[in-house]
Amino acid sequence: MTGTAPPLLRVRDLVVRYPARVRGTEPMPAVDGVSFDLHAGQTLALVGESGCGKSSTAAAVLGLRRPESGSVRFEGRELTGMDERTLRSLRPALQPVFQDPYGSLSPRLRVRDAVAEPLRVQGRWDRRTGPARVAELLDRVGLDPEYGDRLPHELSGGQCQRVGIARALASEPRLMVLDEPVSALDSSVRAGVLNLLTDLQDELGVGYLFICHDLALVRHLAHRVAVMRRGRIVETGPARRVCAEPEHPYTRELLAAVPWPAPAAPGAPVASAP
Ligand SMILES: Nc1ncnc2c1ncn2[C@@H]1O[C@H](COP(=O)(O)OP(=O)(O)O)[C@@H](O)[C@H]1O
Ligand SMILES: [Mg+2]
Repeated sequence: MTGTAPPLLRVRDLVVRYPARVRGTEPMPAVDGVSFDLHAGQTLALVGESGCGKSSTAAAVLGLRRPESGSVRFEGRELTGMDERTLRSLRPALQPVFQDPYGSLSPRLRVRDAVAEPLRVQGRWDRRTGPARVAELLDRVGLDPEYGDRLPHELSGGQCQRVGIARALASEPRLMVLDEPVSALDSSVRAGVLNLLTDLQDELGVGYLFICHDLALVRHLAHRVAVMRRGRIVETGPARRVCAEPEHPYTRELLAAVPWPAPAAPGAPVASAP
């Protein structure tokens, strides 16, 4: 034994298959033997076109869909087939952030209560210190605590997504599964949310499984990239290498599809005037 800690998340030979739409047919698996490692405090970007199986992978990692086969290990513990009770005790450590910022918030719940909800559900709500904790979480995601009074429809998409991130942070996760967290946002607010995610990772050491269909977006955000196509990972490696010297023709295709100039990404050098 070397005593090395297991990866934060280790996925092996994951297969997810949905029931056939037409009786008697065998549908292709949505996820067809996916394997990857994500290390603590790092970002792995899972990138590919719509329908390639990214969200199905996320659902299996989050324990929301039982895979047909394969292994999902979180901090060395096998999640597939884990009993509901143990899984529930691990859930706070594994938090999702979804694409639709409005859809993931309850329309009648004020921001303050939305952020407090995970604490209440987990029995960690303290009437004395709770409100200050909620204000601190809002501040941490760049929202003035006075936003606590608002309802989701009184927020912009970017503000809504910040509330979703604050809600996830309330559980003090070690892994966040971010499924296209900025894809529904105006390009003008995307960079702000991506920068926030980078800052939070630096501060808190939380690992991100960052799902996205835009390879240019993840270049400066991710440590590693896994390129997914038709349920399989076709290329994986350090983000810089995959973007600068793609090995698989499909990765080259994805890069060629990036509009030029590439959209601003966090950490990207500001283009100087010619
Ligand atoms: N609930 C479902 N029932 C049946 N098929 C599904 C379901 N969800 C996704 N699929 C199918 O699985 C494949 C992968 O989908 P998904 O994981 O959502 O891909 P992505 O997130 O990359 O767009 C697609 O062919 C999709 O139609
Ligand atoms: Mg998806």
